[in-house]
Amino acid sequence: MISLKVDLGERSYPILIGKNLLDKEGLLQQYIPGNSALIVSNETVAPLYLDRVVNSLKNINVKTLVLPDGEKYKNQDTLNTIYDCLLTNRLDRNTTLIALGGGVIGDLTGFAAASYQRGVHFIQIPTTLLAQVDSSVGGKTGINHPMGKNMIGAFYQPRAVIADTETLRTLEDRELSSGIAEVIKYGLIRDIEFLQWLEANIDKLLNRNTVALAYAIDRSCKNKAEIVAADEREGGQRALLNLGHTFGHAIETGMGYGNWLHGEAVASGMIMAARLSQHLGKISTDDVNRVVNIIERAHLPVNAPDKMSPEKFIELMSIDKKVSDGVLKLVLFESIGKAIITSDYSQEALIEAIKESY
Ligand code: NAD
Ligand code: GLY
Repeated sequence: MISLKVDLGERSYPILIGKNLLDKEGLLQQYIPGNSALIVSNETVAPLYLDRVVNSLKNINVKTLVLPDGEKYKNQDTLNTIYDCLLTNRLDRNTTLIALGGGVIGDLTGFAAASYQRGVHFIQIPTTLLAQVDSSVGGKTGINHPMGKNMIGAFYQPRAVIADTETLRTLEDRELSSGIAEVIKYGLIRDIEFLQWLEANIDKLLNRNTVALAYAIDRSCKNKAEIVAADEREGGQRALLNLGHTFGHAIETGMGYGNWLHGEAVASGMIMAARLSQHLGKISTDDVNRVVNIIERAHLPVNAPDKMSPEKFIELMSIDKKVSDGVLKLVLFESIGKAIITSDYSQEALIEAIKESY
């Protein structure tokens, strides 16, 4: 088992990565301070893994809640379903909310934990690659609004992240690729050696080679843990983790939540960011092709959705969380392997970069 630490002083927590951790005796239990827990999962993940997690807990009042599956359920109604369950079961302030699933379940459950009785204990058990390399780490929690992705939420750190790599065996290929998009992101924003490793090993990840997957999860989490420890609430460098996301969130919202997977939208968005960076003279055509190439090899989309006009992109991007005092900052490339956050681009160049992406 690999053990990493997200160093946040008194709120530090471990990321545990390994095989068959779901029901490893005593592992989850040690992070539950009280005598009650609610495990939140969904109708796809629960039949696969819920019983194993429940049965691993001894002498604890364990409740379970199985939600419908999908990004379109990451909303206020589903959040209320979690509150209803907590209240109906009279779960108190010392209860622990456990998210068992992908990023949707993690974000929803985390926000419920942040807000129920002003905050209860929270543990992440991520079961998608995307959740194991990104969403379960760092404490961003929240829900979508019809007008914008992840617009309502809170920073709320878990007590532990337990990533059982064996759960990735049941993941659909498209979901695996979606997770690889966030893995590629770390290479592109700050870890050129990791990008080179990905360029050499992407097929191993797609073939679910366990050693390669464990390495990619470990290296991704190390990158994320370092950034979160330095800038928990995104005052500065944490924003780099959003390479491609402003474009990507526009795609997710514009196409209807769930039609483009998060990683697919981010992949297409990272290419738009590369094109805009080229317009600004930061990177070369060869660099843009390098970004396109690794994304294409990961079986991810390299174009913008036909059904979304550049005007729609601009409209949706104008309500992104990186708009401050009316100015939209974007994560762009200083070079491949080094991202920057900047508002130093023209609207014309932005529109041109989007137009080139169809
Ligand atoms: P997801 O949670 O929808 O999971 C993808 C699909 O895989 C779902 O159908 C799910 O039921 C299924 N699934 C999950 N685990 C499985 C398993 N082991 N075997 C078979 N099927 C399984 O999507 P995701 O890609 O995990 O997460 C995307 C979400 O995460 C988005 O809402 C995105 O905004 C959010 N996100 C949050 C952060 C953050 O920092 N909080 C970072 C990145 C993304
Ligand atoms: N996924 C972006 C972040 O955690 O900041």
